[in-house]
Amino acid sequence: MSVDVVILAAGQGSRMKSALPKVLHAVGGKPMVQHVIDNASALESASVHVVVGHGADQVKATLEGQAVSFALQAEQLGTGHAVAQALPQVAADSVVLVLYGDVPLTKTETMAELVDIAAGGNLGLLTVDLQDPTGYGRIVRNEGDEVVAIVEHKDASDAQKAIREVNTGILAVSAAKLNDWLPQLSSENAQGEYYLTDIIAMAAQQGVSIQAIQPETEQEVQGVNNRVQLAELERWYQLRRAETLMLSGATLADPARIDVRGEVELGTDIRIDVNVVLEGNVRIGSNVVIESNCVIRNSAIGDGTVIKANSVLEDAVVGEQCDIGPFARLRPATVLADKAKVGNFVETKKVTIGEGSKVNHLTYIGDAVIGKDVNVGAGTITCNYDGVNKSLTEIGDGAFIGSNSSLVAPVKVGAGATVGAGSTVTKEVADNELAVARGKQINIKGWQRPVKRSK
Ligand code: UD1
Ligand code: CA
Repeated sequence: MSVDVVILAAGQGSRMKSALPKVLHAVGGKPMVQHVIDNASALESASVHVVVGHGADQVKATLEGQAVSFALQAEQLGTGHAVAQALPQVAADSVVLVLYGDVPLTKTETMAELVDIAAGGNLGLLTVDLQDPTGYGRIVRNEGDEVVAIVEHKDASDAQKAIREVNTGILAVSAAKLNDWLPQLSSENAQGEYYLTDIIAMAAQQGVSIQAIQPETEQEVQGVNNRVQLAELERWYQLRRAETLMLSGATLADPARIDVRGEVELGTDIRIDVNVVLEGNVRIGSNVVIESNCVIRNSAIGDGTVIKANSVLEDAVVGEQCDIGPFARLRPATVLADKAKVGNFVETKKVTIGEGSKVNHLTYIGDAVIGKDVNVGAGTITCNYDGVNKSLTEIGDGAFIGSNSSLVAPVKVGAGATVGAGSTVTKEVADNELAVARGKQINIKGWQRPVKRSK
């Protein structure tokens, strides 16, 4: 049996007060509709269809290249009408699962339960009991406790408004039944819309069993209508991510003060202090310490390394037992071998630094290959850019670069070579040589300072 997932994402989301279509607002750094697609794509033999309308071009552009098809709902005439737009793409003998692009955190297991119910010829409906059901469609049950209808808030009687079991909007049923029911929907209701929810009464009348299941947590079915709700969901999501990190071996100073926006792979016995942001694909080895206020994006950190406070890493590969920061900035294509040290106010870019080498203070190293056991003194700059081209600086094993030196690339400093402090190096320094390239000091005895001229 195949599953056709229809994700409704045509609405405007005007309460977001945003030029960005609502479903593209992110939770955990990922657009809401992408969460829905990812969770649905994990279902067995699922094809995903996204119904787009408002901001259709932007939504399609964001999802370009993914295994989803689009159906355009040019006018938003209601949820029933929205599902109908995707139906021509759906195989006649499959099961249809309806999801919402602004309900990002529905779990794959919950979806699978609904699909199983539909595969058995019944209608699977996801409902939830709310303390305050205002605004939601109410689940109407008969004396036998069977679901017989959904009535929208605006169409509900006072007695129905007292019902606290509400429709999440998420349901599954066979395509054959939808093909039968959707053309029969009418828009004669308080909102003048084609309500998907009216199929519940049709199902009940035809004796199709409606099996309501409930999610483990309310957040799983929480929709986002404004940025307050977006932030609430984000915090809940982040706490779950933090729990996952802790359960896989990381000690977090405060689980409420870490944000994960991507995928993290962890060793064990990791310590992470407050206000750390992990983004993209991050790999952290065992016994790593990450101090407060670090941002780590698409980077790998080897076992036993310490990333001190206020460091920013992006597309970097850091070896084992390295010592980074505080206040270090590792930019893309920085590769550090084991036991390397990159200290405060040091910026690196497209550089490999060999084992045990130190770049400890106030330095910019870009487009460089540095050997092992090199010491790069404070204030050293690789002058890698002439305004047009980038050039390479190479420093051999065991070299010593004195403080406040400029290495004008392309240039090589050989193994064991020494550069005197304050040098501007423009020519190759051979192995074991000393290069001093600075103004010579002259001392003048009995020097008289100038005195002020009289006018
Ligand atoms: C809907 C349900 C209601 C349920 C609630 C849960 C109906 C008639 N009502 O109400 O029972 O309690 O969701 O949040 O289904 N959309 C389209 N095209 C349209 C209309 C809507 O794509 O023509 C999309 C919206 O972008 C949104 C979703 O469908 O993502 C829900 O639409 P919305 O108008 O918010 O429905 P509710 O009135 O909240
Ligand atoms: Ca809604």
